[in-house]
Amino acid sequence: MSETSTASDFTIEAHALSRSFDDRVAVDGLELRVARGEVLALLGPNGAGKTTTVRMLNGVLAPDRGYARVLGLDPAVDGEAVRRRTGVLTENAGLDDRLTARENLEYAARMRGFSIADARTRVDEQLERFAMADMAEVRTGGFSTGQRKRLALARALLHAPEMLFLDEPTSGLDPAATRDVTSLIGTLAREQGRTIILATHFLGEAGRVADRMAVLDRGRLRAIGRPEELAADLWDGIPADIDLGGPVPQQVLDLISSVTGVLRADARATGATIAIRDRAIMPVVVATLAANDIDVFGATIRAASMEDIYFAIESSFTSERT
Ligand SMILES: Nc1ncnc2c1ncn2[C@@H]1O[C@H](COP(=O)(O)OP(=O)(O)OP(=O)(O)O)[C@@H](O)[C@H]1O
Ligand SMILES: [Mg+2]
Repeated sequence: MSETSTASDFTIEAHALSRSFDDRVAVDGLELRVARGEVLALLGPNGAGKTTTVRMLNGVLAPDRGYARVLGLDPAVDGEAVRRRTGVLTENAGLDDRLTARENLEYAARMRGFSIADARTRVDEQLERFAMADMAEVRTGGFSTGQRKRLALARALLHAPEMLFLDEPTSGLDPAATRDVTSLIGTLAREQGRTIILATHFLGEAGRVADRMAVLDRGRLRAIGRPEELAADLWDGIPADIDLGGPVPQQVLDLISSVTGVLRADARATGATIAIRDRAIMPVVVATLAANDIDVFGATIRAASMEDIYFAIESSFTSERT
């Protein structure tokens, strides 16, 4: 963030935002600033505090310390006003399963204050946009996880909100539905410069659509930044792939690790992914493998991938735990 930024540049701010349940700290002193139009992914293991953060920002849960500003409002005080201008997809979609898809949306539109006629128009538009028109008259009790998420996303967008809170929009979806929803999120962000907070377990999804990623662990913000910045923070060294023609035993990984300047070596289906201190280490690794009669089919230095970052984040969690 630039030094000249003022509070109004940020559409979401949190200061010392905290919430405990009994004596369990769910969110602990969160400091956050999100610019208008930014897509911020919240990452972290189960229980990290992602949902609790989203609920506080959306004004459905009060912090017990600190405060937030969302669209210039305090969600703890003006929660209703915040929710009027934002759309939310909750973890469990929250549909009324006695109602049809259309009825669920119409009910939500009426609750948002649209006239019957307006509600119908908007609902039709959303059903069309989310390819749910043929399911419109079906009760949502019989919907699959993916169909529920789609409908809940359609509902979150009924009132064309300027900000979206999406709590695990793709969990439980098959790969094709995941790709659809992920690309839809990208479109929504670009289209109207919407600010989006996306809580997810999927780093690939976060990496594709998020401008920045925030990593939470046990309620604390561990790291925040653009994906490449995070990679540099969390991933030591230069990543490289070694194609050994297939999976290799641990001794081979140990052999690679024994080369000075190799920071780590992880097994991959095709061989190993390693981190090296600098490029000059690569030929030494290849020579060491060759000297031990291990065939090297390829060795590539590359930029850190989402998968590398994921492993780095994961191992940063475990290293602090142990
Ligand atoms: N309503 C509640 N009552 C009691 N404890 C809660 C409540 N909501 C959250 N917690 C606790 O707060 C912590 C953070 O939970 P939260 O749901 O925010 O995590 P999360 O990052 O969303 O996890 P997940 O990835 O599993 O969805 C957990 O330890 C959880 O047990
Ligand atoms: Mg959650």
